[in-house]
Amino acid sequence: MNIRQFLDARVAAALVEAGAPQGSSGMVRPSARANFGDYQANGIMPVAKRQGINPRELAARVVDGLQVELAGVVDKLEVAGPGFINIFLKPEWLASQLEQAYTSERSGVDSAPETQTIVVDLSAPNVAKEMHVGHLRSTVIGDAVSRTLEFLGHKVIRANHLGDWGTQFGMLIAHLEEVQKDNPDVMESELSDLEQFYRESKQHYDNDPEFAKRARNYVVKLQGGDTWCLEMWKTLVDVTMVQNQRTYERLNVAITPEDTMGESMYNPMLPGIIEELKAKGLAVEDDGAMVVFLEEFKNKEGEPMGVIVQKRDGAFLYTTTDIACAKYRYETLGADRVLYYIDARQTQHLQQAWTVVRKAGFVPNNVPLEHHAFGVMLGKDGKPFKTRSGGTVKLSDLLDEAGNRASALIASKNPQMDAEQQAEVSNAVAIGAVKYSDLSKNRTTDYVFDWDNMLSFEGNTAPYLQYAYTRIRSIFRKAGVAEGELSGNLVIVDPAERVLAAKLVQFNEVVDNVAREGTPHLLCAYLYELSGAFMSFYEACPVNKDGVDKAVRASRLKLCALVARELKLGLGLLGIDVVEQM
Ligand code: ARG
Repeated sequence: MNIRQFLDARVAAALVEAGAPQGSSGMVRPSARANFGDYQANGIMPVAKRQGINPRELAARVVDGLQVELAGVVDKLEVAGPGFINIFLKPEWLASQLEQAYTSERSGVDSAPETQTIVVDLSAPNVAKEMHVGHLRSTVIGDAVSRTLEFLGHKVIRANHLGDWGTQFGMLIAHLEEVQKDNPDVMESELSDLEQFYRESKQHYDNDPEFAKRARNYVVKLQGGDTWCLEMWKTLVDVTMVQNQRTYERLNVAITPEDTMGESMYNPMLPGIIEELKAKGLAVEDDGAMVVFLEEFKNKEGEPMGVIVQKRDGAFLYTTTDIACAKYRYETLGADRVLYYIDARQTQHLQQAWTVVRKAGFVPNNVPLEHHAFGVMLGKDGKPFKTRSGGTVKLSDLLDEAGNRASALIASKNPQMDAEQQAEVSNAVAIGAVKYSDLSKNRTTDYVFDWDNMLSFEGNTAPYLQYAYTRIRSIFRKAGVAEGELSGNLVIVDPAERVLAAKLVQFNEVVDNVAREGTPHLLCAYLYELSGAFMSFYEACPVNKDGVDKAVRASRLKLCALVARELKLGLGLLGIDVVEQM
């Protein structure tokens, strides 16, 4: 139980004791400002309103009840404004919490009381296309949330919903057949540039009717299970995934080939889905196609929108696959919850698929299907992020540029550092910066990609946090002790120590929030505030200076150790490495 939940439960109990109905909530939240205490209980006013009593009086009664209960925990409880309660935690209690965190292997973060099976739909690039910046968000946010859920003890299934099916495969197979004629080792050479391969196939298809005819024939054969077509298709899938796997490794995301659950995987389920939808009276024939009409969505004429689940020619659609996929995740994978990291343009698609899923009873309502949407990446000019020639930016090129920029930066800051260490630090900074700039934003709308901002050592950036970590490592080197071997008690005296301690104890709560909301930017914001509190503490409270009392020094080192651990663990949950020096 994190501190917010702990206080919430206490306030709720006191509320009930003071006459509120069972189940009333304390609505405890971290306070927005220090003079409102560490936490604030907002649950009194709604109860008072419902009962027609004076909220300040009710708040006073709740405070009376809490006084004894929280004697060892709080310094002060005060009724504020129209009926809030401000909660000021005792420094001694904060210190005892931190002593516990210091000895715990999990930096004070509790495991989830109930573990769930959680499917995370992430990355999902497309076959025969290179991963581009649009897939970055889904990949890194999905991975960070997966890591966080795993850390809390949940069983996480990363589902890489690879775009590996569709009519384009006819033309891709036909093109592959041709290039293979001239070059049997095409896998190594031509296909290294998937974008170009795709473009050439498309050109060929558009300009050569003979080729187009063959391509269409291959689609039919592929769908019919033709062995040769399937082999050619598999070649395309494999080549793509070998390249993507390299990108995943560079990005330091924990996605493996076993996580691939592409669209094609659901093909065998699709005829059965249509049968069930028909039997349940949901799918009806409309002009030869199978359609589900949804009252929940209206078309331009204001009539229920028809969602096609099977075309006239028998082909299934992207939506049909997502219907089957949700069913599979619940039925076969045993999901208690499914998180989808997909860009905002697919909102309506998902909502329609899930409306059908719920109506058909494929996934019960108590199993949430959550769309975590995000916008597209914009350049500094506010226009979609593109290469100079107007093409989509390949992820691998983006990472190359990040590497070059970070190397130059680290070399200029640390000319004395040896080449090997420089390379290690630059890599951690480059990858960290790119991922963090994405992870730290809470935007469902579009967002601006800005090299200078993300590589800055100031502000809410990866290098800033990585730098804060190295500061602490150097404090320990100077002190000549190891982080894990500190003795002596933690004592909170200075106001800057208190601010830092109050921040440190929120870690548990923040990790819980990330897991619940599926939003890593909360963790980023926390780590940034923590680093800020650390920097202020370090300015106000010397550690290694001459004249600092031994016990004070030991206590301050413990605070430093806790900050370092939270930074390392927190960045680790985001999939970002720390370094010893930079
Ligand atoms: N491959 C798709 C794309 O690049 C994303 C798939 C997302 N996942 C899903 N279950 N539909 O747009």
